[in-house]
Amino acid sequence: MIKKEVVTNSPEETKKIGFLMGKKVIEKQKKFFLSLSGDLGGGKTTFTQGFAEGVGVEENITSPTFLVFKKYKTKNNKYLYHFDAYRIEDKDLSVLGFQEIINNEENIVVVEWGENIKKSLPEKSAEIHFEFKDDKRRRLIIQGDGDIIDKL
Ligand SMILES: Nc1ncnc2c1ncn2[C@@H]1O[C@H](COP(=O)(O)OP(=O)(O)OP(=O)(O)O)[C@@H](O)[C@H]1O
Ligand SMILES: [Mg+2]
Repeated sequence: MIKKEVVTNSPEETKKIGFLMGKKVIEKQKKFFLSLSGDLGGGKTTFTQGFAEGVGVEENITSPTFLVFKKYKTKNNKYLYHFDAYRIEDKDLSVLGFQEIINNEENIVVVEWGENIKKSLPEKSAEIHFEFKDDKRRRLIIQGDGDIIDKL
């Protein structure tokens, strides 16, 4: 695991980082689990939009806050699961089949508000903490394997 910090100056820059990470993930990894944490409006969904594009999701993704999660087909016949744990806690996950989803080798899983379901999270492939600096700037503290996050 390595750690790096990036400050982005626009939503597009945050999306671009997501896109680059998504591309690496779909090229390299089998299953992948990414936890996104940090400030409200920090850019987790914006990042995930770029990430989804990077793994080859063709539709536009929107925040799954009220649905808890959404599933999308990616390149290479895998699936992206986008969770938003803002309104849930660990005990809610069993009904959603969370453990089955994260154990499936074909799945790439991104969880917003991962800090709300700490006890249920698997070993993370990567983690990003988002800090709101001002209107346009966000600090992303990114941790993960070098081959995924080196060139972001
Ligand atoms: N540098 C930036 N990176 C990301 N988003 C930015 C940036 N600058 C401004 N924004 C704006 O901030 C908002 C970020 O919202 P977004 O829904 O991505 O955050 P979030 O972390 O998912 O929020 P929530 O905590 O509600 O889930 C968007 O309206 C986006 O346009
Ligand atoms: Mg969000």
